[in-house]
Amino acid sequence: MLLQFVQALYIVAGVLFILSLAGLSKPTTARVGNIAGMVGMGLALGATIVNSLYLSYEDPERRQSVLVTGLLIVVVLAIGAAIGTPIARKVEMTQMPELIAAFHSFVGMAAVLVGFNSYLAPEGQGGAVHLVEVALGVLIGAYTFTGSVVAYLKLSAKMKSAPLVLPGRNLLNLAGFAVFLGLTVWLLVMPPDAVGLGMVVVAAIAAIGFALGWHMVAAIGGGDMPVVVSMLNSYSGWAAAAAGFMLGNNLLIITGALVGSSGAILSYIMCRAMNRSFISVILGGFGTSEGTVATGGRDYGEHREISAEDTADLLVNARSVIITPGYGMAVAKAQYPVADLVSRLRARGVRVRFGVHPVAGRLPGHMNVLLAEAKVPYDIVLEMDEINDDFAETDVVLVIGANDTVNPAALEEPDSPIAGMPVLEVWHARQVIVFKRSMATGYAGVQNPLFFRPNTAMLFGDAKVQVEKIVAAIGASDAVPAGTR
Ligand code: TAP
Repeated sequence: MLLQFVQALYIVAGVLFILSLAGLSKPTTARVGNIAGMVGMGLALGATIVNSLYLSYEDPERRQSVLVTGLLIVVVLAIGAAIGTPIARKVEMTQMPELIAAFHSFVGMAAVLVGFNSYLAPEGQGGAVHLVEVALGVLIGAYTFTGSVVAYLKLSAKMKSAPLVLPGRNLLNLAGFAVFLGLTVWLLVMPPDAVGLGMVVVAAIAAIGFALGWHMVAAIGGGDMPVVVSMLNSYSGWAAAAAGFMLGNNLLIITGALVGSSGAILSYIMCRAMNRSFISVILGGFGTSEGTVATGGRDYGEHREISAEDTADLLVNARSVIITPGYGMAVAKAQYPVADLVSRLRARGVRVRFGVHPVAGRLPGHMNVLLAEAKVPYDIVLEMDEINDDFAETDVVLVIGANDTVNPAALEEPDSPIAGMPVLEVWHARQVIVFKRSMATGYAGVQNPLFFRPNTAMLFGDAKVQVEKIVAAIGASDAVPAGTR
């Protein structure tokens, strides 16, 4: 009876996870989606704890240790909460991608540990299906672990974002998979009582997974990291589903499959947005190819600078303005003054819209979240495809902390590491103002010829400070009585 109730709770939790995904697909329903996910996870945790305590109680050999099991669960939950709560409270929006990558690595390691445990569990031993589950679970888990660690190091700038290009890297990966297949077959044909040797083979599978994860993600260059993060998200889901098979836990299988497939769909969408091949992403070899060269050394000529006051002047005299935000807006936390600037310009009758690149910032939807936080109306925030044709009829474009996502080299220089990636074609506008602190490159480490175009002017300094200055200049001109202007 109790076990049926637990299974029913698992189904309810699974439905809540699906509702959560549906809710998270639109900014207006994202809050409800989050709540559905949290309630689902609470139910799932509660049901799993009750389930494991009940199973311990049912088993006469484990009955005496039911209290110890309960206590262990409470201690483990308390340790997790004590580590997770301060991290979640303190983390900056700009650090979210690296935090997500770090969390994916835990899922991977959990699948590896469950694999070892499940191999040793007496009830599973000997069955071919179970052994294949163990081999796959350990491989995917180990791959997800080191791949996510490398992604974390790259995203937090603790490791160079340039791709690691070993000679014959694709052959190395293929050899790794071939050895994995060989080890799995060995595990299957091994006598069931050779548990010691079996553990060595499972450890070797884990080692191959660790090496493949490290190598495949290290081989991917900076600009392509968004796809890697969503791909690792997908792998962490499959690792959880594999753990669900090993443990015979339906909810873990459902949840893992949901995360795995939604991550795969997101990766596919991002591959299309960045003009990359989905298949080569899965094979881990889609980063900068051996033939591409960084364009950092090319001479594009001189750049021109502009002041905040002159920018204010241009803006109040414009009829149409497009703002293209990027990672620098997040770093500067400039979204609030930007929202203020937008409402002042709109009050003066200027048509203002935002153009958001699918990989602007450091996580999918990063800019949309920041703009929603600052209460910018959703209907003026447009996606790249919706706004790219409008730049030619635009008076002023404000590039606020964006760089790679507005780089014309992606379309004009076939030897560029970001060649082929669709970008916001801001240079077609009459005037482009770029907000940044220096002439430094963006995340992909590629120089941006936009900065040297005759219709571009650089507004150097922290984006928040500069936007506040523009707002102040517009405010001062608003304060002057109409007749004396
Ligand atoms: P980026 O190319 O990262 O450039 C950001 C620019 O902001 C830099 O050039 C920097 O120049 C400027 N900046 C930094 N702090 C600033 C501040 N306080 N005030 C003013 N400017 C500041 O930005 P992007 O156009 O958004 O492109 C995103 C890049 O990240 C792409 O290459 C993308 O592939 C990659 N990426 C994206 C994701 C996702 S899912 N979105 C995940 C991982 C990686 P200064 O230093 O000179 O100020």
